[in-house]
Amino acid sequence: MSFLVIDGAVKTFGGLRAVDGVSLSLEQGEIVGLLGPNGSGKTTLINLVSGALPASDGRITLDGTRLTGLRPDRIARAGVARTFQLVRVLPSLTLTENVMIPAVFGAHAHWGAAARRVAGEALDRVGLAGRETATAGELTYIDQKRLELARALAAEPSLLLLDEWLAGLNPSELLEGIALIRELAQSGITILMVEHIMEAVRALCPRAVVMNSGRLIADAPTEAALSDPAVIAAYLGEPADA
Ligand SMILES: Nc1ncnc2c1ncn2[C@@H]1O[C@H](COP(=O)(O)OP(=O)(O)OP(=O)(O)O)[C@@H](O)[C@H]1O
Ligand SMILES: [Mg+2]
Repeated sequence: MSFLVIDGAVKTFGGLRAVDGVSLSLEQGEIVGLLGPNGSGKTTLINLVSGALPASDGRITLDGTRLTGLRPDRIARAGVARTFQLVRVLPSLTLTENVMIPAVFGAHAHWGAAARRVAGEALDRVGLAGRETATAGELTYIDQKRLELARALAAEPSLLLLDEWLAGLNPSELLEGIALIRELAQSGITILMVEHIMEAVRALCPRAVVMNSGRLIADAPTEAALSDPAVIAAYLGEPADA
C-alpha cells in the first residue's frame, strides 16, 4: 500500500463540489506537484488531508493510519504538517516561541528543553539560525515564509503539505526556496506541494497531479502532465485576471 492514499475524497460547500472524488497515492519520499487553475480545489484537498476541514466523503490514510475522521491535532501527531497559502506566523512571539509550539504538538510531542532543541534545529534548517530571539513580526516576507516552513518542520512530519510556499518570492529568493525544498525532499520526507510556478514544479517534482473543478484531470510525469491537452485547456479556460 502507498504511503499516502487519498481515495475518493469529496468536499462539498453547499451545492459546490470543491473536491469531487479525488483519488491519488504518494509513495514514501516522493515529491509531487499539485497543480490546477485558481479555484480548482487544491487548497481544499490539502485541508482534507491536514484535517483543517472534514471530508464529505472518501478515505485518506497515511502509512495505513486512517486520517479521515481524526481531529487536526491527531493528524499532526500522525505525522502531517502543512504551510498556509497566506503566511500564518505569530507576530509578537519570538522565532523560537513560534517554532516550539508545533514541536510540542507535532509527531513526537516534545516538551521543555527538547522542544527548544527541535525548534532550534528547524530554524537552522530553513536558514534562520542566529535569529531565534527576533520577533516574527520583524521579519521580511521571505523570512516569514522560512519561519512558517520551520513551524511545519518542527512538527517532524513524515508528510509535508506546501500550499504555494514559493509564491511572492523574487527571482533570487525563489532559487533559494527551491534549493531548500530540494534539501527537504532529499532528507526523505514525503511532500505534496501546491504550486503555480512551473519553473519550481519542473525543478522539484518528477510527478505532477492536476485538478480542475474539483476533479483530478492528470497524474503523470511532470512534463507529460503539463503537455496534456486537457491540462492546457483547463489553464486556458482560466479568466485572464485570476
Ligand atoms: N470554506 C469554504 N466555503 C465555501 N467555499 C469554499 C471554501 N473554501 C473553498 N471554497 C471554494 O471551493 C473552490 C476551491 O477552492 P480552493 O481554495 O480549494 O481552490 P485552489 O485550487 O486552492 O485555488 P487557488 O489557486 O486560487 O488557491 C472555490 O470555488 C472556492 O471558492
Ligand atoms: Mg489555494
